Amino acid sequence: MIQTTPNFGEIEKAFQDGKRGIILEGGSRSGKTWSIIQWMLFHMLRSNNLMITSARDHFTNYRRTVWADIKKIYPDFFAEATKNETLMTLRYGSNMLRAFGTNDDIMATHGLTQDILHLNEAMNISRDTRDQLFQRTGTFWIVDYNPSEEESHWYDLAQDPEVHFHKSTVLDNAFVSPAIRKQILSYEPTEQNKERGTADLYKWKVYGLGERASGETTIFTDWQTYKDDPAGYDLKVYGLDFGFAEDPTVVIQVIVDGHNLYLKEILWEHALTNPEIATAIKERVADLDEHYFVCDSAEPKSITELRNNDISAIPADKGVGSVVFGIKKLKNYRIFVNEMSKNLTSEFRGYKWKVDKNGKLVKNTKGQPIPVGGNDHGIDAARYALTKFAR
Ligand SMILES: Nc1ncnc2c1ncn2[C@@H]1O[C@H](COP(=O)(O)OP(=O)(O)OP(=O)(O)O)[C@@H](O)[C@H]1O
Ligand SMILES: [Mg+2]
Repeated sequence: MIQTTPNFGEIEKAFQDGKRGIILEGGSRSGKTWSIIQWMLFHMLRSNNLMITSARDHFTNYRRTVWADIKKIYPDFFAEATKNETLMTLRYGSNMLRAFGTNDDIMATHGLTQDILHLNEAMNISRDTRDQLFQRTGTFWIVDYNPSEEESHWYDLAQDPEVHFHKSTVLDNAFVSPAIRKQILSYEPTEQNKERGTADLYKWKVYGLGERASGETTIFTDWQTYKDDPAGYDLKVYGLDFGFAEDPTVVIQVIVDGHNLYLKEILWEHALTNPEIATAIKERVADLDEHYFVCDSAEPKSITELRNNDISAIPADKGVGSVVFGIKKLKNYRIFVNEMSKNLTSEFRGYKWKVDKNGKLVKNTKGQPIPVGGNDHGIDAARYALTKFAR
């Protein structure tokens, strides 16, 4: 008995419905290629004078992957086939299935004629090669890939009403081994997988969930936590972002030591008046007299009030493009966030570039990406401090 995953039924349905072809997009090990092979062999059983071309980028890759699977599967369909190992062809009656490497012989791409075409791992097959091959495909084509690119001509083609589209993930494949399933599930960014070091958001999206790759939208992807401030440093300065009811007032200690940047939460509190801010700073900062407090320049009155309370408060340099400029400045360093600074670490994790509904970065008129505001008080404070002094 031949057992199938849902992909098989989708191919047959598309074929019976008279579609031009089917796109099987999805995560890793979701049963795409296996189903396609089963369907091609099944179709050979019921056909005469059928020519199938099954292709991927290179012959050598084809041999290692699709051809290896074909050899496992075809005895389920017919014992009496003739197989040519060197050319990778399989004949059954008057029907033939043959392998092809699209990048090995570009010229042949323009001459190859077939009834059925299979393109395996098609993500990197160009639009031109695709069209050349489709022009010479009489009846039906089948394409499979992991959606590893942000943009692709396949995504556009998938919208065509004459094309059938089906998405699958490893969870749709009842036949995959537990070890492989576990490997794929280990990419999911759960706390446990993060601790183990196997978490990988990109891989989880593309190979786990079978979702199309979207541009990296997290702003700070490369930072770590630290415990103790360094003994020596090149620069120490504090950043201050004013808040009141909705937003907290935040003070961040910024230490630059060579290429390293150390950030620590000193104050993170709501509903503080300016004298209360000054008192809190005096309680928490021992070396108060030796360092500046670079404050949000939108509140000159508050800055004056802090100065009247013996805090060396000065305004930050703000202006057009200063947010993205400051983010770039921060990113120039190896960033360490104090492990006790829970609010700040949470901001670092969640700080994202704005994207539209298709997952693409939104840019301003200067072509710069735009950070999503709201949860950026500590990051703003760090930015004020750093851009004022660090070159
Ligand atoms: N119908 C089936 N019967 C038995 N085993 C199957 C079947 N479908 C899939 N498998 C098993 O699941 C594995 C993964 O399937 P397949 O190679 O088709 O996935 P895929 O979607 O092409 O994955 P990738 O994107 O990684 O190429 C196969 O190697 C095979 O072991
Ligand atoms: Mg495959």
